[in-house]
Amino acid sequence: MASASIPEINLNSGTGKIPALGFGTASDPPVDSQTIKTAVLQAIELGYRHFDTAALYNSEQPLGEAIAEAVNRRLIGSRRDLFITSKLWCSDAHPQHVAPALSTTLKNLDTNYIDLYLIHWPVSAKAGKVEYPIKAEDFAPMEFGSVWAAMEECQRIGLTKAIGVSNFSSKKLLEILATAKIPPAVNQVALRWAYEQGIGVVMKSFNRERMKGNMSIFDWWLSSQEVDMISEIPQGRACLGLDYTSIYGPYKTIQQLWDEDI
Ligand SMILES: NC(=O)c1ccc[n+]([C@@H]2O[C@H](COP(=O)([O-])OP(=O)(O)OC[C@H]3O[C@@H](n4cnc5c(N)ncnc54)[C@H](OP(=O)(O)O)[C@@H]3O)[C@@H](O)[C@H]2O)c1
Repeated sequence: MASASIPEINLNSGTGKIPALGFGTASDPPVDSQTIKTAVLQAIELGYRHFDTAALYNSEQPLGEAIAEAVNRRLIGSRRDLFITSKLWCSDAHPQHVAPALSTTLKNLDTNYIDLYLIHWPVSAKAGKVEYPIKAEDFAPMEFGSVWAAMEECQRIGLTKAIGVSNFSSKKLLEILATAKIPPAVNQVALRWAYEQGIGVVMKSFNRERMKGNMSIFDWWLSSQEVDMISEIPQGRACLGLDYTSIYGPYKTIQQLWDEDI
């Protein structure tokens, strides 16, 4: 699955492996589709095999186009050579909307399955269009049990090979685990993750030289002394998720959103 230079790590669910370095397709400020498509093609050429997208990012379609072109240009043998992650947006985080949302994602990507589907944030929003920021009055508590059961059904019918969550606190993960038949394969959080601690990393660069440089983390090692020194540095969340709190919603503060895991 991965190119020779990017190692793979096991998914928590035991359902396969994930290339340890993923290529992020979210861009802030947003860029046009052609820029995303060009960046993905360059990334495939350089050896990236894991791509991270989401219904929210507007990058599913250009990612799908880049994959089709990569196959045409024989940069890869087929779509099966790639690991694709996408995410369920809050407005679709209702049991009856999960499978239709994933079907739209598959249509955008022009593929019949993805490798990993994640619940993007642990909160639901009024059903309707995918939009950000979510209006304060549109937030709703997520029915963790039934939304997760709908995610499990997506895996069972083959729309995705694995399922997981994103931006979940330990407490909220336990709520999912309380009824889960399939445990979450990953919990993706916006942290500067450390490969040396056995954790996968998603990086974003649309600049060819920096894409190349970011792959070189597998060519050198930190000494145990250096790892210890880095561990001493206080860690914080890059994205506190203030936009997912609302006086009308289930989380009024970031402390409630993260259950103090800040
Ligand atoms: N699950 C979630 O809720 C969630 C949240 C955040 C992010 N993500 C995923 O993770 C990806 C990465 O997000 P992020 O927040 O870490 O990235 P980011 O802050 O959005 O972007 C990284 C920035 O660093 C620059 N950069 C990259 N490599 C560099 C290097 N070697 N030297 C100097 N600058 C460099 C990039 O610029 P250039 O493009 O110009 O190189 C870019 O501006 C996203 O695209 C998305 O797929 C998921």
